[in-house]
Amino acid sequence: MSSNPNELRENVKIAPAEGKLGILIPGLGAVATTTIAGVEAVKQGLGKPIGSLTQLATIRLGKRTDNRTPYIRDFVPLASLDQLVFGGWDIYEDNAYQAATNARVLDAPLLEKLRAPLEAIKPMSAVFDQEYVKRISGPNVKKGKDKFELAQAVMDDIRTFKEKSGASRVTMIWCGSTETFKKPAQVHQSVKEFEAGLKASDPDIAPSQIYAYAALMSGVPYANGAPNLTTDLPAMLELARERNIPICGKDFKTGQTFLKTVLAPGFKARMLGMNGWFSTNILGNRDGEVLEDPGSFKTKEETKLSVLDSILQPNLYPDLYKDLYHAVRINYYPPRGDAKEGWDNIDIFGWLGYPMQIKVDFLCRDSILAAPLVLDLVLFLDLAQRAGMRGIQEWLSFYFKGPMTAPGLYPEHDLFIQLMKLKNTLRWMQGEDLITHLGLDYYD
Ligand SMILES: NC(=O)c1ccc[n+]([C@@H]2O[C@H](COP(=O)([O-])OP(=O)(O)OC[C@H]3O[C@@H](n4cnc5c(N)ncnc54)[C@H](O)[C@@H]3O)[C@@H](O)[C@H]2O)c1
Repeated sequence: MSSNPNELRENVKIAPAEGKLGILIPGLGAVATTTIAGVEAVKQGLGKPIGSLTQLATIRLGKRTDNRTPYIRDFVPLASLDQLVFGGWDIYEDNAYQAATNARVLDAPLLEKLRAPLEAIKPMSAVFDQEYVKRISGPNVKKGKDKFELAQAVMDDIRTFKEKSGASRVTMIWCGSTETFKKPAQVHQSVKEFEAGLKASDPDIAPSQIYAYAALMSGVPYANGAPNLTTDLPAMLELARERNIPICGKDFKTGQTFLKTVLAPGFKARMLGMNGWFSTNILGNRDGEVLEDPGSFKTKEETKLSVLDSILQPNLYPDLYKDLYHAVRINYYPPRGDAKEGWDNIDIFGWLGYPMQIKVDFLCRDSILAAPLVLDLVLFLDLAQRAGMRGIQEWLSFYFKGPMTAPGLYPEHDLFIQLMKLKNTLRWMQGEDLITHLGLDYYD
């Protein structure tokens, strides 16, 4: 393939965003219902889509003197909020209104105003296996003779949803609980082995992988909002490329890790050293309860820990970062609900090695931070599909703690590099000059 972006671009023709866009969500919990309720609230003028690039951000085009800064939503053809229709699966039977009420993220008076559209969303029965999520169980679960049959049932659900909702296209985004930590196995190495594994109900095939397989088989792009092993597998990559479907993941970058990927590049940019970063969290929502299980926590810990190493590059800067001690803790603390508190203690050092400390105390709201990411991801994934982009969408790294990359490529974690990559991809899609920030021409 050519490395010249202009040659690569020649084939980019973006189909218009016509008709309804279906958003299918495995896991109608706090994040999913906050997203759906938020979209309804924005449509009704009851709130603003704060935190969403697709709704609020502009993009600079051309030279700084050109004064061309359209909204992203006016620059690329995205589906509008009025075109979105939602559906999903959960192990509980609660409709989206009840689930949003239980999640206690949005206020009851606001939810009351959104009651009708939320009540209309009833979860389809889930593919679930308690081996993968230990702390919860529910009645709304599919039964099948093997995992292949379960995958077929999810494909049927997608078809039925499309027919009933009138959606012309669908994207899927995992907002389900974090599954237990697993490494890729033989069954994940090719589509052939994966399909044989489905028929044999191979224990290494997780429920999330069954949804992803069903999505890709149905021509539906898939985003992974949790850290579990779902699409980072040769079988899924093969399927996505073969069928020309975009995928991305994993684990929404919302609170503490978001701040980490803002702060760490700053210290490194100034060549300040670091020998410790201790992060601890208390949260009391169902996500927190699931993460009490060591298997689910281990999955989360992996994505949370991975960011610092790749931003700081201790192999290139041993004087600054080789002895870095990085720890992440999460504790379930019910009184806080979704209003999480994340503390960070950062031990840095400067000139001649003199030590300093930084403390960060982020009293955040998990689902309030995650909802705009869900919205942006489904709109951008749909755009990518209409632009004929397939496989891993690295330009969406901006949204993830553990961005998917081509095998052998290290992920970019720096939020500002990620943002530049995202915006340059949009410019590239529309045939605009990429922005390098060189700027020498202003001084000729
Ligand atoms: N909120 C954030 O800031 C944030 C950030 C990064 C990642 N995440 C991840 O997003 C996911 C959702 O978070 P949440 O706060 O909404 O959690 P939640 O517990 O409120 O919702 C998850 C829902 O998924 C359902 N579920 C579990 N397994 C399922 C399956 N196999 N099929 C269908 N439904 C299933 C559960 O019943 C639950 O209703 C979690 O994995 C979380 O780790 C959240």
